[in-house]
Amino acid sequence: MNDDGRLALAVRAAREAGEMLRQGGQIKVERKAWHDYVTDMDRESERMIREMLLSECPQDGFLGEEGGQIAGEREGQWIVDPIDGTTNFIRGLPAYSISIAYRRHSEFVIGVVYAPALDELFTAHLGGGAFLNGRPIRASRVETPEEAVAGMSFAHRNRVDALRMLDLLPGLTASLGDMRRMGSAAYDLCCVAAGRLDAFFELGLHLYDIAAGIAILTEAGGRVSGWPGEADAATTGNILATNGPLHAWFQSALRENGEKRPPRA
Ligand code: IPD
Repeated sequence: MNDDGRLALAVRAAREAGEMLRQGGQIKVERKAWHDYVTDMDRESERMIREMLLSECPQDGFLGEEGGQIAGEREGQWIVDPIDGTTNFIRGLPAYSISIAYRRHSEFVIGVVYAPALDELFTAHLGGGAFLNGRPIRASRVETPEEAVAGMSFAHRNRVDALRMLDLLPGLTASLGDMRRMGSAAYDLCCVAAGRLDAFFELGLHLYDIAAGIAILTEAGGRVSGWPGEADAATTGNILATNGPLHAWFQSALRENGEKRPPRA
């Protein structure tokens, strides 16, 4: 199957799983770890998506949040988060999404992020631009931090990351227009791609949270990196994503405000 076919297949899988999530019903919640939940719907969504993708592309590898990795990377690999923003999903908050990426070697060639409660479908394939519900999207051109609205998280699952994030906030809140914590990294990245946010930064994410969002934001003209002085976001899970013009400012702001951090016992 070629990449156009794979994109269409990923869209079908995201919409079908999204329809199942939208219908809701009784949700069974389990705790995976501290502040980390999984529901029977996460598992069912991943099962549906995996079956659809691999039945049509049996030669592809698959990495899913709930099922781990199977079959390695052959021609390429699907990278799937069946519900990104599970806490929002459990609480009935609309910012949760299904995230499906296809990676060949180290390149994310397809990204699909579907937010079922909002019926927003973000899509991209390498070199073909980025789209929201079929309409082209572009990252913003905002250049000044005072005008910028940035998405972030409190990195609440890991104490070291949480403190690192909290230490940045006084400096960043003083310089930026505003900040948002929405609760789905995949959706945040798409909001940067659509010019709704000008930047997004978070620590401790997984590849399946960000792979599709990276593909979409890059195609929308935005920029993605690791945190200053670190390896890339796909390797570390620490991501800085911006509209492009603000990237250098955020890199220095994360570095400088991080350095002001008082020593902790
Ligand atoms: C979560 C979301 C959220 C982020 C968490 C992630 P999940 O994904 O991306 O924005 O702050 O750290 O784990 O676990 O709901 O798929």
